[in-house]
Amino acid sequence: MIICSCNIVTRADIEEAITGFLDVDPWQLITPGRVFHELSQRGKCCGCFPGVIDIIVQTTQRYHALKESPSVQVIELLDRIAMQRERVDAARQRRAAKNHWNTAA
Ligand code: FES
Repeated sequence: MIICSCNIVTRADIEEAITGFLDVDPWQLITPGRVFHELSQRGKCCGCFPGVIDIIVQTTQRYHALKESPSVQVIELLDRIAMQRERVDAARQRRAAKNHWNTAA
């Protein structure tokens, strides 16, 4: 399934990159930017980033469930990812408002 239509990046590509990061350090914060860099791509419209964050959350949860990681640490990591999602959503809203004002003028 294609998640990023700008770069033709699939869900499987994204999950593989995330799992590779988690294998190196299971507690690191993984961002869409890092995933795209790993795939030798970069965000263009960045419209897929919220969906990429959802995949990061789901893949991270699945990874830690398989490893039977301590749930407190997993919750802390998912909280950090949720904060990242809030920043991405806020940036998208600012961009949309800016585009609205630029087209209205
Ligand atoms: S849809 Fe992914 S960068 Fe545009």
